[in-house]
Amino acid sequence: MNKIAVLGAGTWGTALARMLAVHGQDVTMWSALPQELESMAATRRHPNLPGMELPETMHYTPDLAAACAGRDLVVFAVPSVFVRQTAKKAAPCLPDGQLIVDVAKGIEEKTLLTMSEVIEAELAACPGHGHCRVAALSGPTHAEEVARDMPTLIVAAAKDEADAQAVQKIFTNPNFRVYTNTDRRGVELGGAVKNVIALAVGMALGLDYGDNAKAALITRGNAELARLGVAMGCQAATFAGLSGMGDLIVTCTSMHSRNLHAGMLMGRGMSADQARQEVGQVVEGINALPAARKLAKQYKVEMPIVEAVYGIVSGTLPARSAVASLMSRGLKSE
Ligand SMILES: NC(=O)c1ccc[n+]([C@@H]2O[C@H](COP(=O)([O-])OP(=O)(O)OC[C@H]3O[C@@H](n4cnc5c(N)ncnc54)[C@H](O)[C@@H]3O)[C@@H](O)[C@H]2O)c1
Repeated sequence: MNKIAVLGAGTWGTALARMLAVHGQDVTMWSALPQELESMAATRRHPNLPGMELPETMHYTPDLAAACAGRDLVVFAVPSVFVRQTAKKAAPCLPDGQLIVDVAKGIEEKTLLTMSEVIEAELAACPGHGHCRVAALSGPTHAEEVARDMPTLIVAAAKDEADAQAVQKIFTNPNFRVYTNTDRRGVELGGAVKNVIALAVGMALGLDYGDNAKAALITRGNAELARLGVAMGCQAATFAGLSGMGDLIVTCTSMHSRNLHAGMLMGRGMSADQARQEVGQVVEGINALPAARKLAKQYKVEMPIVEAVYGIVSGTLPARSAVASLMSRGLKSE
């Protein structure tokens, strides 16, 4: 049995915490919102995961230092905008060499760092942290399905293969199959940029376009992602794998996807803020969009779908004009 802290009590953190606890791990959840923990401890339910029951063995604490003390693994499961501040608060409570896994998907706009890189930066800035062991866990995974023990495949990525294997070992169970990869940045880039492509697919659906447009956006979206990733030194094969094409497929086709839903609402004419409000939970594609554009510029990579989504989200380009501009781009070879 491993002692595990899960930081963040949104749908993903809670679905993973339940799964780990059901499979015999000693799990403690921490949240910045103590009322969430009180409610989960009292009801053993999560408001956004109806039907899921949390095991009695789970522990809850609003005290970050207590959550972080003496853990074999610390899971960062807060939305990307809260990763840095959570890492900053957690760093002094963690021992040097603590195994950490980030499950949030995003790129920080200001620094263009992935979430595991943000955690590493905060550890490095905290005295006493010389040896960082930060992995990322990413792939085609909806919390709603993991909460119901549906078969799911995912990738544990770390610079050091041994750390990826340690995460693989802890998370693997008969319903949850974990692969390893040492291309951590490629894995995280896939998880962040696919949300932008899902917004594009949602917009196309909102405009009543069909499966042809959906397939085109998924495939060409993956080409954009791989082009950027390779320019950044990632492995091309990563983008054909679970955290690349796999995550694109699930996010761009599943009705569980908030990014797809938000895109549909914008395709039907809502503003980004209205769509965000209507969805009611984090829409990481909108958060990742400025960073994806900046990366494209920095690495001199063409990302026309990302650019079109930006036009719509920023309100500078009507959705139909964005499609027209994509369709009339100069002719290319595939
Ligand atoms: N939901 C999924 O199916 C899924 C799957 C894979 C990855 N992810 C990724 O996991 C991350 C979390 O997603 P989610 O679906 O759990 O989001 P969510 O919207 O359900 O998370 C909200 C949670 O954020 C936490 N929070 C709120 N304010 C905070 C603050 N000030 N500081 C720290 N934490 C705060 C709270 O615990 C709150 O419940 C995202 O990056 C998402 O892309 C989600």
